[in-house]
Amino acid sequence: MDPRLAEMREAWHAKASLRALYADYYRRIGETLAAGRTLEVGAGFGNLKHFDPATISIDVLAAPGLDAMADAQRLPFAAGSFANIVMVDVLHHIERPLDFFHEAARVLRPGGRLALLEPAITPISWAFYHFLHPEPVDCGADPMTAEAPDPDRDAFDANQAIPTLLFGRCGARFRAAFPELAIVSQTRLSLFAYPLSGGYRQWSLIPRPLIRPVLACEDALLPILGPAMAFRMLVVLERQ
Ligand SMILES: C[S@@+](CC[C@H](N)C(=O)[O-])C[C@H]1O[C@@H](n2cnc3c(N)ncnc32)[C@H](O)[C@@H]1O
Repeated sequence: MDPRLAEMREAWHAKASLRALYADYYRRIGETLAAGRTLEVGAGFGNLKHFDPATISIDVLAAPGLDAMADAQRLPFAAGSFANIVMVDVLHHIERPLDFFHEAARVLRPGGRLALLEPAITPISWAFYHFLHPEPVDCGADPMTAEAPDPDRDAFDANQAIPTLLFGRCGARFRAAFPELAIVSQTRLSLFAYPLSGGYRQWSLIPRPLIRPVLACEDALLPILGPAMAFRMLVVLERQ
């Protein structure tokens, strides 16, 4: 197992606050999905399976419990074989995101859903991600332009700005390029609980019992504070 996935798995088992936070993410994602088979792409060590054992989980890296090792840019499934695709913190790691969207459109059945939970770049989250997070945030990139594949690319190479760019500044170009993937919703999430939890780091500044009440406060505050400080976004697309 890749040592980075092993480290994530260790944090997952050690941190009740992290599991509570992801339970809330998975609940929100679950509410957006269509009836039928779900594929998780970039499943890491397979934590979504703890919540929904019927999920088919794949990742470009090997890990125990996953159903297959496969690249999001070349999905080894027949056309129309899934009702849903879920990705949590994966789109911003994919070298050629447009290749992934072509594949997602192919393997989803009509009416199927693609749910993406990703970093959102807002003024405050930008400062946090830029100064306190190891993954780069390049807001000058153009994710609608396909780069030549890099043979030395690592699965954890990233640009955290990609989802914000694709569904923000590049939104019109995205919709023109993928008319078969209609954007059903685009929601800002995560104000305090996620950054205070430390994510998959060993530390947490928020105890498990506070996660639920803080998330309830966030829901009330997101319409006001979201544009300035949301740390995450949930984007849901539907196969036409
Ligand atoms: C930040 S981790 C997220 C893991 C998991 N989804 C979670 O939320 O715990 C990003 C994952 O994306 C995977 N990944 C990166 N590029 C990929 C690709 N082209 N195809 C499939 N998985 C990929 C990595 O191997 C890694 O497991």
